[in-house]
Amino acid sequence: MTVSRRQFLAASAAFGALGPAARAQPAGKQLIPGPSRAAIVPGQRETEVWAYNDSVPGPTLRFRQGERARILVENRLGEETTVHWHGVRVPNAMDGVAHLTQPPIAPGARFTYEFDLPDAGTFWYHPHARSAEQVERGLAGAFIVDERAPPGVDRDLVWVLDDWRLTPEAAVAGEFGNLMDASHAGRIGNTVTINGRVPSAPFPLQAGERLRLRLINAANARVFGLEFGTLAPTIVALDGHPVEPHAPLGGRVVLGPAMRADLIVDVAAAGGMVAINDTFYRQRIYKLVDLAIEGRGRARARTALRLPANPLAVPDLSRAERHVMEFGGGMMDPRLMRSIRERGGQPDPDMIRSMRERMLAGHVWSINGQSVRHGEHHHEPLLTLERGRSYVLAMNNDTAWHHPMHLHGMTFRMLSRNGVAVPHGEWRDTALLDPGERVEIAFVADNPGDWMFHCHVLEHQEAGMMGTFRVS
Ligand code: C2O
Ligand code: CU
Repeated sequence: MTVSRRQFLAASAAFGALGPAARAQPAGKQLIPGPSRAAIVPGQRETEVWAYNDSVPGPTLRFRQGERARILVENRLGEETTVHWHGVRVPNAMDGVAHLTQPPIAPGARFTYEFDLPDAGTFWYHPHARSAEQVERGLAGAFIVDERAPPGVDRDLVWVLDDWRLTPEAAVAGEFGNLMDASHAGRIGNTVTINGRVPSAPFPLQAGERLRLRLINAANARVFGLEFGTLAPTIVALDGHPVEPHAPLGGRVVLGPAMRADLIVDVAAAGGMVAINDTFYRQRIYKLVDLAIEGRGRARARTALRLPANPLAVPDLSRAERHVMEFGGGMMDPRLMRSIRERGGQPDPDMIRSMRERMLAGHVWSINGQSVRHGEHHHEPLLTLERGRSYVLAMNNDTAWHHPMHLHGMTFRMLSRNGVAVPHGEWRDTALLDPGERVEIAFVADNPGDWMFHCHVLEHQEAGMMGTFRVS
């Protein structure tokens, strides 16, 4: 099918709503979180949301590598908040974690964040205070740091992907942090948006153009597994950091909560329609969006686009100190299942009782046996690390669920999955662990302070799946 000029213009207009994330903000940047309304579902009434600057997602904050960012936050919510710059390597006091790196910003109060930007890439920002509810209600935005010499592409697009649980009237459903969500896959919604709205028209592409598509998963819990059909994207960066350009494994771009991917798409020279399908949950495959290729372009021979590396300290694996992080808990706990098997099918009543008690107290998940809930920062760090030293972290997911594990303050390198080397050894700030999976990562502890290490399924984080690493 080809798309007429008029259809293309109509579709472009419909996607004008993709504007906020595509438009750059002027210099003196300001974020004002507060209650607002947003047209999330076309044809439905507006949804009451919490938004930065009345925009869902919040405005794209755009800087150049090496610049110093200065962002004034004025809290117009009815509760405390903070802003965390996910993936940006900032000094500890600017990391925006309520009660750990700063006192929360009270309603009506202001706080100015200011930090240098060592790395180029696709990052994002969101509150780090009661995040499960604040992020879900709409507080999140893209944070883009352009390379000193940005690579030549025809268009640079930012897509903030989100997932909402809405009522039939398009209101954000309540019951945040209920035990059902907390002990299973988290709050997976029923409505998926690109830049804050459900796509209702094909997204227009120009035949023959080269796109840089920056994908950000801002959902609380949903993992995306995107298949691009004939578009055949090349992954050039993951979690903001350049990676050897490669085709997505199995043809699918997998993004756990908080994860990002930069794709290069060379759009075919002939017009037509292509769909992006999300096939991550095999029982719930759906079409994310149609893409309408307009016009006729020149077929160009393209060379792979390589982004310049960021100045990250490379861990010295021969001298790295090794630590194990064991994740436990949740429904269908493999430990419980093993014990039932060992006892010839009989559950151990003591084990059941203590699990039940812990769960009812909201301690559903644990890291190395420790379960920390929000606001409970008066605990010992999971690890105390020596500044400048290299570390290998062996993470064992002894649960029946996916966990995107996020480390603040430092970027790590993926080493292996279930003992098999990860092909491109990419840099990341969030590692998605499949149920039962073992993942090894390595990093240099080069940023002093107390840093959060937690699951980015925000309901899991809230229910105990967090801790801190101290670098001193
Ligand atoms: Cu995206 Cu602890 O955060
Ligand atoms: Cu988790």
